[in-house]
Amino acid sequence: MHCRARPETPDDYTQVFGVNRLAFGREEEARLVETMRRTPEHIPELSLVAESDGRIIGHILFSPITIETVVGPVRTLSFAPMAVHPDFQRRGVGSALVRAGLEAARRLGHKSVVVLGHAEYYPRFGFVPARPRGIEPPLDVPDEAFMLIELVPGALAGVHGTVRYPPAYDAAL
Ligand SMILES: CC(C)(COP(=O)(O)OP(=O)(O)OC[C@H]1O[C@@H](n2cnc3c(N)ncnc32)[C@H](O)[C@@H]1OP(=O)(O)O)[C@@H](O)C(=O)NCCC(=O)NCCS
Repeated sequence: MHCRARPETPDDYTQVFGVNRLAFGREEEARLVETMRRTPEHIPELSLVAESDGRIIGHILFSPITIETVVGPVRTLSFAPMAVHPDFQRRGVGSALVRAGLEAARRLGHKSVVVLGHAEYYPRFGFVPARPRGIEPPLDVPDEAFMLIELVPGALAGVHGTVRYPPAYDAAL
């Protein structure tokens, strides 16, 4: 199926809300996207939509987060939420969004990304479990559900600490 991943524009906001609401079956994630857009940390180039035939069928939001270490915070990114319209799931749309997002993040100079999510899904993009690398999730989750990828090899070498999400994520994590 043909779809194009691109940064969202204000014209997309209503459809992005709808895709998140339908994919998750509730509004918390859709509202989180709206809240994050209003924060100074928001990176518009890393809120991507998947478009097919002029319609928004998927969305992914990468946000800056920090790893709190004994020598101070280390900046990284996390993506959440990520949503594909239920009518278009399992056709590669989510994968296209992850790959486009990682590529855009790399281009913008970001060095690593962490994700909290389906352990069977993200390794295909190069994510590996984070805890064995000394990076702890912000809440109690199964080890394999918390993963990281280095966009620059070695970017997280020697970085040990706990990830902290912006307060806007409290309701959705
Ligand atoms: C997770 C999601 C974004 C994946 O998008 P997608 O376009 O369906 O993904 P792709 O087509 O690229 O990849 C499909 C793979 O995703 C994985 N996958 C999809 N949904 C999954 C789920 N609920 N649990 C575990 N794995 C899942 C499967 O491994 C599937 O592979 P398969 O078809 O070989 O079984 C989409 O299913 C979705 O919106 N789900 C509801 C919201 C959600 O859970 N978001 C992620 C957490 S923030």
